[in-house]
Amino acid sequence: MITIALPKGRLMDESLELLNRCGIEVSVPSSRKLFFYDLSGNYRFLIVRAQDVATYVEYNAADLGIVGKDVLVESNSDVFELLDLGIGYCRMVVAGRDKGCLSDRKTTVRVATKFVNIAKRFFLKKGINAEVIKLYGSIELAPLLGLSDCIVDIVSTGRTLKENGLSVIEEIFESTAKLISNKISYYTKHDLIKQFVEKLSESVGSVA
Ligand code: PRP
Repeated sequence: MITIALPKGRLMDESLELLNRCGIEVSVPSSRKLFFYDLSGNYRFLIVRAQDVATYVEYNAADLGIVGKDVLVESNSDVFELLDLGIGYCRMVVAGRDKGCLSDRKTTVRVATKFVNIAKRFFLKKGINAEVIKLYGSIELAPLLGLSDCIVDIVSTGRTLKENGLSVIEEIFESTAKLISNKISYYTKHDLIKQFVEKLSESVGSVA
């Protein structure tokens, strides 16, 4: 048996759809139970916070995991990336009320974000002095209240930015969900993992 960590939240529904499309019959328990099995009993699934998926996989509490590139890049986890699943598309961007925050390089730019590492790396590479402020949600409020000059965040539909009077200043990268593997499991459970990857690869990109 292999254990697969699934992310709660926006990626969960798309992950379940993808698994069902591959012939792995799963449904999330309606109770508060945080793990479940597929119908065949070959796979055990864990329901964890998106930000924790890579940690479960890195420390071998799960053999595999489904995680957005945005969260994976931010975590710097030591895992293998096996497959781009093509779901959960979004863009990591710098956004603000105007372009000024990137063009005025004489001052320190204040950046609010959930993605501290990504933001720090981005501004360092640009040679812009940045003070990065960690927030846990509702990031779009920060520039409106003067807490920051801009934000680094993901954009999916673009609705949140628009409804709060912000726009994209620069795209940092595009993000989709990845299948990741624990480095030891990849070798010790290679056949089971290979089978699972093959099932998924066949359905990746196919229409539901
Ligand atoms: C994310 C992100 C943006 C929003 C973008 O927040 O941080 O705020 O979604 O989506 P959109 O482009 O479709 O509007 P999330 O919904 O995870 O809530 P949070 O602010 O509480 O983190």
